[in-house]
Amino acid sequence: MIMKVTKTNNLFGDVYISGSKNAALPCICAALLTKEQVKLINVPDIEDVNNLLTIIKDLGVKVKKEEDILTISAGRVKTKVINHLVSKLRGSYYLMGSLLARKRKVQIIYPGGCEIGERPIDFHLQGFKETGCEVNDTKEIIEISKKIDRETSITFPSLSMGATINIILSTCIGNGITTITNPSLEPETLCVIEMLNNMGACIIIEDNKIKINGVKKLKGVNYHIIYDRIEAGSYLFLAGSIPFSKVTLHNVDHKHLEVVIVVARKIGIKITKIDNGLIVEGPEKINKTNILIGPYPFFPTDLQQILTVVLTRSDTSKIEDAIFPDRIAHLKELRKMHAYVYDYNRIIYIKKSKLKSSKVKATDLRCAFALIIAGSMAKGTSYIMDIDYLFRGYVTPVKKLKAIGVNVEII
Ligand code: EPZ
Repeated sequence: MIMKVTKTNNLFGDVYISGSKNAALPCICAALLTKEQVKLINVPDIEDVNNLLTIIKDLGVKVKKEEDILTISAGRVKTKVINHLVSKLRGSYYLMGSLLARKRKVQIIYPGGCEIGERPIDFHLQGFKETGCEVNDTKEIIEISKKIDRETSITFPSLSMGATINIILSTCIGNGITTITNPSLEPETLCVIEMLNNMGACIIIEDNKIKINGVKKLKGVNYHIIYDRIEAGSYLFLAGSIPFSKVTLHNVDHKHLEVVIVVARKIGIKITKIDNGLIVEGPEKINKTNILIGPYPFFPTDLQQILTVVLTRSDTSKIEDAIFPDRIAHLKELRKMHAYVYDYNRIIYIKKSKLKSSKVKATDLRCAFALIIAGSMAKGTSYIMDIDYLFRGYVTPVKKLKAIGVNVEII
């Protein structure tokens, strides 16, 4: 799929942020922890969610979708997860945790994910082992069975949102207490914990540790998924990248974007907080900055490529992505647009550049959005190949972009 993007002078209007992709995926897997009906509200209609629903339907789970409301009934659920979509979808790894808790065993082909560097799952597998599972990893398929419920305390080599959530899922049903001493406490992790506790789980957070006290069984729930802070940040920097724009973002939880708002203001973007939203005004000049990307509440890695594009309007800026240091495939594409963006020793260097339209290629979900911003800033008309990635994580992106005046078209 190809997207045509033409230079945009200024953006005006409203963007309504949808439910969080990275919360919806684990919450859908959490619904498999009970035989009772689970209703999830504010579920984003995106490819990653729809692919995960196809995978769980393959496992015998009943799914009903009405707009942004998902009804899931996992009366029965198979434990062999071999649908080819698993190898495309990183978030399918949460099925390991859910099926271990519900059925005490799982066989799954290796989960996939965007090419943004290494995507190992060693922390997940190590955590399963430490909590009493036997893991047989043949590199094609992973077979895990829960032999005993071992009370334990887990420390990951580095913060991992996926591994944190997976261990919570796999130990919330069972006996004994599992402690994660260095959990990732992203808003998405807290969303899954709240849903599970509403289902009768016993998970507490104290002194920045997560304690999961296994319970016998979980009940059904109606649960509202949080809004997507990365979608909000994407549109925030889009509006901020075009001078004299004024765009209102609705359905924004300010505390999920605290550091993002600080950084945006620091580089000159005017942001006014309103009830459940933000008003974003694009400045004439973007100031330079140096950013270290890290685990929440640091500046999020998923907005790194997007910020890189905006900073081509600043003098000399630097970004270090400590989460995914190899998340640099977008740089080559931006250089085709005459951007002065280079990486050296895991640091991205950005200099003031006059972007020129070009034919470029999206390499992953967030790179796709970053190239749309670049195309809106560049003189002329650009063509973005493989824009299909965009639909993995953004709800009706073309409609939302056109609503504020971005000149985009799928051709
Ligand atoms: C999740 O990926 C998100 N994906 C990513 O969003 C997000 O960028 C990332 O968290 C931020 O931390 C989903 O939620 C589906 P991690 P995940 O475990 O779970 C290393 C997007 O664009 N690590 O927090 O893969 C890992 O390589 C996507 O929406 C291991 O070494 O991230 C990374 O350097 C992109 N071994 C760091 O830890 C493991 O077993 C943090 O990874 C797991 C992770």
